[in-house]
Amino acid sequence: MCELIPPRADLTEDQWLRTAGPGLADAAVPDDTPDAAAAAHGVHRRTLLGGAVAGAALAALPFGAQQRAVAAARAGAADRFPLPSAPGPSGEYAVLITGDAGTGKAEQYAVTAAAREICRTEGVGLAVGLGDNIYENGPESDHDSEFDEKFERPNTGIDVPWLMVLGNHDCSGLVPGSGGDPSRGDREVAYAATSRRWYMPSRYYNVTLPAGGGRPDPLIEFFALDTNPVASSVVQLDPHYRWDGPYMREQRRWLDTALRASRARWKVVLGHHPYLNNGKHGSAGSYDGFVIGHYTSGVHLKELYEEVVCGRADVIMSGHDHTLQILEPTDRTRGTRQLVCGAASKTGDGTAHFTHPAAWQDFSRHGFMLLKVSAGAMTIDAYTVDVATKKARLAHRTRTTRPVAAGVPVGAPAGVR
Ligand SMILES: [Fe+2]
Repeated sequence: MCELIPPRADLTEDQWLRTAGPGLADAAVPDDTPDAAAAAHGVHRRTLLGGAVAGAALAALPFGAQQRAVAAARAGAADRFPLPSAPGPSGEYAVLITGDAGTGKAEQYAVTAAAREICRTEGVGLAVGLGDNIYENGPESDHDSEFDEKFERPNTGIDVPWLMVLGNHDCSGLVPGSGGDPSRGDREVAYAATSRRWYMPSRYYNVTLPAGGGRPDPLIEFFALDTNPVASSVVQLDPHYRWDGPYMREQRRWLDTALRASRARWKVVLGHHPYLNNGKHGSAGSYDGFVIGHYTSGVHLKELYEEVVCGRADVIMSGHDHTLQILEPTDRTRGTRQLVCGAASKTGDGTAHFTHPAAWQDFSRHGFMLLKVSAGAMTIDAYTVDVATKKARLAHRTRTTRPVAAGVPVGAPAGVR
């Protein structure tokens, strides 16, 4: 979620801070900044100082290096929870989907407690974290205690690899949620080397799960994106991360090549910022009501989704809005379905702001989803969670039997239990 929205598109973080008031800009100066000054502006000192020292983290990896990093991650620490190597006895993989989880507060613990029970009964072997993994502006180092407070401890017992993607709060500098300092995301990549469950071999990556039974083609392939450089609410100052800079050009080339080459039966794109969204942040191209400029509106992410992803991936899974939405595939999406699953710690405002066709949606409750895939079907279960009792309720199930690559998919919502 973007708690702070700039007054107009295409401001830098510094310009935004000065527009917000001289006191806030001054509070960003390190060393002698009193906590009280930051608190008076509603911004934690840790947040400000973190932004002031950003930029010294790892460089983004080119595609070849990424592939080597993936291989290293797969073969890494002996005690790392392994990626599932075959479908379960029913022929299915079960994957937990969560988003916008990283507060470390009671609501996150309640949702993960409820999810833990479902993971046990459903045989979950893999999990996904759809970004905003560490509120409010990402970790301060690659061994920050926030990794423990906002990820490891809440998720204890969900002992599987978590495919993590970068959200705007993971990549923010001076303005929490702006997405204006992508280099901070490198700390989350570095952390993956020392965690048993945090899987992020590079800033964007793909993962395949085998079909089993000696079949050569994967059953499912995940493509995890870094959407921040083209969805930030401020201008990217670092030329490397500009909307048309080398990082995004390379990521687009990688995604296009990887999707084209994929032989997986099911293809799932993971990106923090949604393509379509009925929640308050709106859809790519008009995020938060902005429709001008290279940033804020997400217009270049819209282009990426429409030109590279739609019609090739079965599902785009996103967070950012703290809601639960299973949108319908349409002609506009060329058969690709959009999910929004960002209610693992916070909730929406209870209101549908837009009218994209939805199989099911909820704007007020916490929750998570479960993806189940076999050779014959892809099923998405949406669970809402009662925070007081820490119990999950299956609210909706959507089942699809035909991959997008095979033509227009058949969606068969099975209703509410
Ligand atoms: Fe977000």
